[in-house]
Amino acid sequence: MNIQWYPGHMTKARRMMQENVKLIDIVVELLDARVPISSRNPDIDTLANNKYRLIILNKSDLADEKVNESWKEYYRNKGINVVTINAKSGQGMKNITALVMEACKEKIERDRKRGIINRPIRAMIVGIPNVGKSTFINSFAKKACAKVGNKPGVTKGKQWIKINKNVELLDTPGILWPKFEDETVGRHLAFIGSINDDILNKVELSCELIDFIKTEYPGILTERYQIEEDKDTSDILSDIAKKRGCLQKGNELDYEKAAAIILDEFRNGVLGRMSVERPV
Ligand code: G4P
Repeated sequence: MNIQWYPGHMTKARRMMQENVKLIDIVVELLDARVPISSRNPDIDTLANNKYRLIILNKSDLADEKVNESWKEYYRNKGINVVTINAKSGQGMKNITALVMEACKEKIERDRKRGIINRPIRAMIVGIPNVGKSTFINSFAKKACAKVGNKPGVTKGKQWIKINKNVELLDTPGILWPKFEDETVGRHLAFIGSINDDILNKVELSCELIDFIKTEYPGILTERYQIEEDKDTSDILSDIAKKRGCLQKGNELDYEKAAAIILDEFRNGVLGRMSVERPV
């Protein structure tokens, strides 16, 4: 798989993160609820060492509700603060401030004992491209979008968004890079549309997606496309192409077009809520 994240990007992103992480109390890590493993870069554990943490499973509206619950349980069992949200609709957003405060309660208590009251918690959003960082920041900041402005000497050149009296958010998210060296990670990110389709073989990818759906969510393809699932994957793709009238010149089946339909319908949730990764 071709990779957009060549080392130059990574080095720059890492440097930015190392700089910004010094300014904040808590790292709010955005993952895609459908692929919490593949949308997570384990380097964040080193980069955010000694910081409070909150994991947000975004796009939970597109993921399987039961699996969302399993993921929450998985993280809670590890003692990690976690929440599922839909940053686009705003579902789950109203709890974020409380969760940030909860994750930082130790620091708040420490400050209180030292007579420092109501010092806002400083947070930074991090995540791989397309996970919903901008959508989240806009949604979180929507009412109180007042920029705190630069604080000379301390946060030169940094913009902070005052969410409320308790939380300030760095307005530039930390961009993490996916773990492309793992083939499964690449495939799963391609499924959800986080990798530019122009560099992918869509037909091959759609066949892998068909395999996944018919195994993990049997009956969905039959219901949506009125086709027989108990067949070879390439025959299923042909059947979907026929059902959807995907033809090219000379009345040959247009597999590219059929592949694009399946991928789009999966990514937009038209095929239903599905999770690609489950806790093990
Ligand atoms: P980024 O900054 O991390 O790169 O991600 P960004 O916010 O740009 O979001 C990427 C895409 O994901 C956007 O769709 C956005 O609307 C969508 N999105 C973000 N959060 C959610 C969510 O919780 N649920 C769903 N279903 N979608 C979400 P887009 O197609 O690029 O733009 P648009 O057509 O929505 O405007």
